[in-house]
Amino acid sequence: MNYTKKILITGGAGFIGSCLVRHLVAKYPNYLIVNADKLTYAGNLANLESIKDASNYRFVKADICDAAAMQQIFTEYSIDHVIHTAAESHVDRSISNPMEFVQTNVVGTVKLLNICKSAWQDDAAHLFYHISTDEVYGSLGETGKFTETTPYDPRSPYSSSKASSDHFVRAYHETYGLPTVISNCSNNYGPFHFPEKLIPLCINNILHEKPLPVYGKGDNIRDWLFVQDHVEAIDLIFHQGKTGSTYNIGGDNEWKNIDLVRALCKIMDRKLGRAIGSSEKLITFVKDRAGHDQRYAIDFTKLNSELGWKPKAQFEEGLEETVQWYLDHQNWVEQVISGEYKKYYEAQYTTR
Ligand code: NAD
Ligand code: DAU
Repeated sequence: MNYTKKILITGGAGFIGSCLVRHLVAKYPNYLIVNADKLTYAGNLANLESIKDASNYRFVKADICDAAAMQQIFTEYSIDHVIHTAAESHVDRSISNPMEFVQTNVVGTVKLLNICKSAWQDDAAHLFYHISTDEVYGSLGETGKFTETTPYDPRSPYSSSKASSDHFVRAYHETYGLPTVISNCSNNYGPFHFPEKLIPLCINNILHEKPLPVYGKGDNIRDWLFVQDHVEAIDLIFHQGKTGSTYNIGGDNEWKNIDLVRALCKIMDRKLGRAIGSSEKLITFVKDRAGHDQRYAIDFTKLNSELGWKPKAQFEEGLEETVQWYLDHQNWVEQVISGEYKKYYEAQYTTR
């Protein structure tokens, strides 16, 4: 088969990466999709069950920090495009172990950029697409939104590592002319979300009648976007985005954490046939996250006016669908929360 593009997706066994891989493999049979993932605690091959035998899909277990292994993938598959989603993604883990974030998010990204720079010396079409976060812009007060020109002000080890990798991507574009594009997205939610994150953690704890740990007063605000909407924005930017550009992606959907947790309680009470209000009793205010960013909000005017993207999912429907997915996939949850995650959960919450 003569594939028209040979795309390396890094981190394609994670939450967003696997949604992207499933989407691209199904939608573009003329593209070869090569998924390289280290399979950390957050990477799970069960997320890729639906496409694992597709003829245009390959999986390679590899660490992006292992330059020889990555070079081997480039050579074997003649990779001409990269969508880089691999990262350590959890803010709380970055607070207890920043070095792992420097290693994968910064060093791993620069190693990949080096491979692209030396592999792509011909005149063929190439692109290094870096998937990033709105957290690089820091924390907002009550008003305003992040635009693509908001100065970087990362405040956690996680967001600092992502900001650093964004800077390296831009530097490789400016210095070496590497064709790059970056998008910075707000909080995603949906199926296959690792249960260390707020929404799946609460769904799982409500189901098992365990405390719902809300940091601080629960008044921090996040902008939530359904993961499939993020993936469709990535698809659009990958194909039509301007090289060297940055695009913000958001849901126009701000929620205080406490209101979101209450909304989840209501949905779960109804679905589980429990008395309305019973799950809310599980809400427990715990010690705040160190350096907790107060509010994120995204202005995605550029993506809307240049490429016509806007989110499709209604939040209430997306949340219902997500809750139902977790109820229907308890085997998946049990599998991913066994082992390493159990120890993490105890260390993170038992004495909080
Ligand atoms: P995730 O933690 O669910 O998945 C990360 C994946 O990367 C896992 O499959 C893991 O095995 C893999 N990985 C980690 N280190 C690796 C390494 N050294 N080599 C190869 N693979 C490695 O993350 P996610 O939530 O899906 O986020 C994906 C990307 O999107 C990240 O870059 C993150 O910064 C960004 N992002 C996430 C969100 C969100 O709300 N989750 C929002 C905006 C941006
Ligand atoms: O904004 C995009 C970012 O969103 C991504 O770049 C990150 O990879 C992703 O993890 C996410 O970061 P957050 O820190 O916003 O997500 P998290 O689900 O960890 O937390 C959401 C909010 O809920 C945050 O204000 C902290 C709070 N929280 C979280 C947990 C895990 C709680 O109150 N209790 C909890 O137990």
